[in-house]
Amino acid sequence: MLSVKEAIEMRRSIRHFRPDNVPDELIKQVLEAARLAPSGSNCQPWRFLVIRDKEVKKELRRICLEQRFVEEAPVVIACFADLEAYSKEARKKSHQELIDSGVTATLSGRFADPKYRARQVSLPTPPRQELLRFLIANTFIAIEHLVLMATALGLGTCWVGAFDASALNRLFGLSDNLIPAAVIPVGYAAGEIPPQRPRRSLQEILLKP
Ligand SMILES: Cc1cc2nc3c(=O)[nH]c(=O)nc-3n(C[C@H](O)[C@H](O)[C@H](O)COP(=O)(O)O)c2cc1C
Repeated sequence: MLSVKEAIEMRRSIRHFRPDNVPDELIKQVLEAARLAPSGSNCQPWRFLVIRDKEVKKELRRICLEQRFVEEAPVVIACFADLEAYSKEARKKSHQELIDSGVTATLSGRFADPKYRARQVSLPTPPRQELLRFLIANTFIAIEHLVLMATALGLGTCWVGAFDASALNRLFGLSDNLIPAAVIPVGYAAGEIPPQRPRRSLQEILLKP
């Protein structure tokens, strides 16, 4: 298996897949990497659907603006953010888990104060737009864990963010609380692994205050 550094350097968006099957065991490892991702207040909003069915993949291709490789990949993982993951109930449960597992004892600053935390936990749920931003950001972390683990295991992936979100939820009969975050085709790359894609230099991304 590749190291984290190797996986980061070797990952490419793969848009052409061999028809070879991907063993369930590998998909399990990829999902496990997503499950272990960090999240704000440990809310873990990510949810995944693993799709192998040919007819469903055909429909997914249509929903993803006819991107061919979505149907071509032997496995597609549809990734969602669950708005319920940050409900008052869910926040209370996560907070209790953090207390029980000893995490709160490691916090500092205002977060070390149980009264401050209790107030935070009982705040009303933020407005939908704010909530979406927060939960999608957290879900993206898990998705990139998934993508990097797939790379480490020799699998190709491509983030797909171009899709009809309502159609995706309709296809799987999902409620509006599940926000589609990305569709990730997974499989063995067909042909040569493409060279690294253009990136800004370190100088360009470092802000000078
Ligand atoms: C959030 C997100 C959405 C993306 N959506 C698509 C997409 O719908 N179709 C596609 O072909 N590539 C998509 N990409 C892949 C990018 O085009 C790609 O990451 C970028 O060009 C850099 O290439 P690389 O991934 O090979 O390094 C997406 C990437 C991200 C992170």
